[in-house]
Amino acid sequence: MRRLPVISPSTLRRLCVISLVCVSAIVLTGAAVRVTGSGLGCTDWPTCSRGHLTPPLQFHSLIEFGNRMVTVLLVVVIGVTFLAALLRRPFRRDLAWLSGGLVAGILVEAVVGGIVVYTKLNPYLVAVHFLATMLLVVNAVVLLHRSGRDYSSRARVLVPRVILRFSRVLLVLVAVVMSAGAATTGAAPDAGGAQGQTVAKRIPVPLRDMAELHSTLALFLIGVVISLAVALHALDVPERVRKAARMLVVVLVLQAVVGYTQYFTHLPAALVELHELGATVLVIGVVQFFLALSHRTPERDPARLHAVPDLGGFADSRGPAGAGAGAGVGAGSGAGAGVGAGSGALASLPEGR
Ligand code: HEM
Repeated sequence: MRRLPVISPSTLRRLCVISLVCVSAIVLTGAAVRVTGSGLGCTDWPTCSRGHLTPPLQFHSLIEFGNRMVTVLLVVVIGVTFLAALLRRPFRRDLAWLSGGLVAGILVEAVVGGIVVYTKLNPYLVAVHFLATMLLVVNAVVLLHRSGRDYSSRARVLVPRVILRFSRVLLVLVAVVMSAGAATTGAAPDAGGAQGQTVAKRIPVPLRDMAELHSTLALFLIGVVISLAVALHALDVPERVRKAARMLVVVLVLQAVVGYTQYFTHLPAALVELHELGATVLVIGVVQFFLALSHRTPERDPARLHAVPDLGGFADSRGPAGAGAGAGVGAGSGAGAGVGAGSGALASLPEGR
């Protein structure tokens, strides 16, 4: 019987990068569908129109169909990443679960997307669809982060507890601002209507009121992040934590500038798309910021150990693909490369990020 291939930690990590890129791309192609009013470009699911799998050569149908194709690519990438996580040696249960989370998430999104089409772009469901995609982005960022780090021992927290708690509040606040943004989109005029297509139902609240609520919450969020960045500069914390906070401030301020500009220029498609990009970058940034608050040692890739003379108990005579990566790894512990003592020669490997 043929043995299953073995996937190295660095290969899985590369796949995790591609997964994150694809998940972020789907937010933008999904937005392109919406801002061009192409949501009903394909009127059926999973075929484009009744009895036709592919679209007619019309702008809206092509955009919607293109989005579906990107979705197919995403499904393939995520499926491969999940398989790779199962075949990774040393096996890490956390990585298998997180990559499985992406698979489950995309399946749920496919179902919700189908219902969105059948309900003729119900604005509440469109909002749920968008927010669920953002959760997929979060999942992909955490997966990528963990894929390069040793999670077998406790993390070393790099900031005072109060900052850690404050940062948890920040995560909630970002979720609130994003939800208010999705509701603002639901209250905004439908691009389909502007192009003589079927007008999707809107959330029955004036756009002005919704945008006011959303922007007020956004300004509050900016205030909170600026305070956090200032506090971190006064504290004895690693520079990379301060830098992550500064980056958040920059992204948020730019996002607010785009937000106001698009509102006062009557929501031109390009700016709405840019606002979506900003929201995606913000989600990636805020999760990275949160993860940067505690330190985990980079995980050692067995493939790279061959270049190092002092391998201690970690050497595996079966080669880089050797199952379990040697004695130091607790099989099935989900802890990953519990690298054995004696691999001190590797302690200075640079951190992945
Ligand atoms: C700075 C933090 C901000 C974040 C994180 C943010 C995030 C978002 C998100 C996630 C959406 C929904 C996108 C979608 O459903 O596809 C949105 C929509 C919107 N945001 Fe913001 N936003 C911010 C600031 C602002 C500000 C300051 C304004 C100023 C008025 C604004 C105006 C809008 C408008 C008008 C929409 C609806 C656009 C449309 O889809 O037609 N945003 N925002």
